[in-house]
Amino acid sequence: MSQLFSPFTLAGGITLKNRIVMAPLTRARSPEEKATTSTALYYAQRATAGLIVSEGVTISRQGQGYLFNPGIYTEEKVKAWRLATDSVHDIGGKIFAQIWHVGRVSHTSIQENGQAPVSATAQIAKGAKAYAYDEAGKPNLVPVSKPRALTIEEIGKTVEDYAHAAENAVKAGFDGVEIHGANGYLIDQFMNPLVNDRTDAYSAKTMAGRLRFTLEVVDAVIARIGRAKTGLRLSPYVKVFDMPIHDEIDATFTALAAELARRELAYVHFMDHSRSAPREGVTASDSAPFDATLRHMRAHLRHTPFIIAGDMTRERAEQWIKDGIMDLAAFGRPFIANPDLVARLEHGWPLAVPDATRFYGGGADGYIDYPPYHKGE
Ligand SMILES: Cc1cc2nc3c(=O)[nH]c(=O)nc-3n(C[C@H](O)[C@H](O)[C@H](O)COP(=O)(O)O)c2cc1C
Repeated sequence: MSQLFSPFTLAGGITLKNRIVMAPLTRARSPEEKATTSTALYYAQRATAGLIVSEGVTISRQGQGYLFNPGIYTEEKVKAWRLATDSVHDIGGKIFAQIWHVGRVSHTSIQENGQAPVSATAQIAKGAKAYAYDEAGKPNLVPVSKPRALTIEEIGKTVEDYAHAAENAVKAGFDGVEIHGANGYLIDQFMNPLVNDRTDAYSAKTMAGRLRFTLEVVDAVIARIGRAKTGLRLSPYVKVFDMPIHDEIDATFTALAAELARRELAYVHFMDHSRSAPREGVTASDSAPFDATLRHMRAHLRHTPFIIAGDMTRERAEQWIKDGIMDLAAFGRPFIANPDLVARLEHGWPLAVPDATRFYGGGADGYIDYPPYHKGE
């Protein structure tokens, strides 16, 4: 019997009505950089998922790399999220906010007073683009600016920004937060020895230094909102920008898992790029190293639920849950075009294909106008 459609309890006690997770999806539909009534409708339409992880929400102006992204760092932004979280709860859904700092993947045109973005390093993310203002002052994809390395004092302040965002998320009615530690953004920049060229306590030369920032963020968020409300997203073997696959990935993530074990997070969410078809900025790689690292991490994190996203299918989800590889299955792009994805998977109804040209920005089209399945379609 399928376990996908039965309730599941995250570590710490939050119970979900099924094991299907809506993966975080940036949609850039917030012209004033706060959640709107359309945001609320969009999430409500998808609230039959066991868990919704919101689009990445920025923890500070400094943490923003893409325009029209709803933040969570002012009272006004916190209030704006309330309609979305209430709407999801009214339908019996659960929603975590993905809290996000892009680090060096940003541009001076969207930073306060035109300042440089910040990172673990002062090395530019070659090939990375931010969604910011071009030379004509128009919103556009532009090459990222050269960052400056955070000072130790600023690192402390940034950790506090994550904790503050977590507290704000709970105030806004979110059931918890997912710390965005994936895809080459700030946390990944600290953990990657090819990017982090620091010589202080956060230096990637030692494993403790490499993991220090990530663990400080995790600990600060747990201290503020509790472990039962704290999840973490990771993407070992992601190949983004100028961050190639390197031979210390397995050791880094296995050491991280050993540290996370005693923190008893609500869950750890993996983005598996190894099975994805190649797309801009992301190249498919062999899945064997990812699978091995996952096993090594699972050996430490026996009591922490694993979520995996990346070209997931119902068949693979069922098999992997049965085999104990993961506990919950996340779907990203399928949720864009199929608000009722859970019902479609359960009944074997056909899946609509999302319009990739409407992924980011714009209005209601390609956002809240995908209908549920009707027989005879
Ligand atoms: C339009 C779009 C926006 C995304 N935004 C985010 C994001 O804000 N945070 C994040 O961690 N991943 C983001 N992702 C990655 C997805 O969460 C997911 O891991 C990825 O799409 C693979 O799953 P899928 O094959 O089911 O789409 C995004 C992906 C897409 C296509």
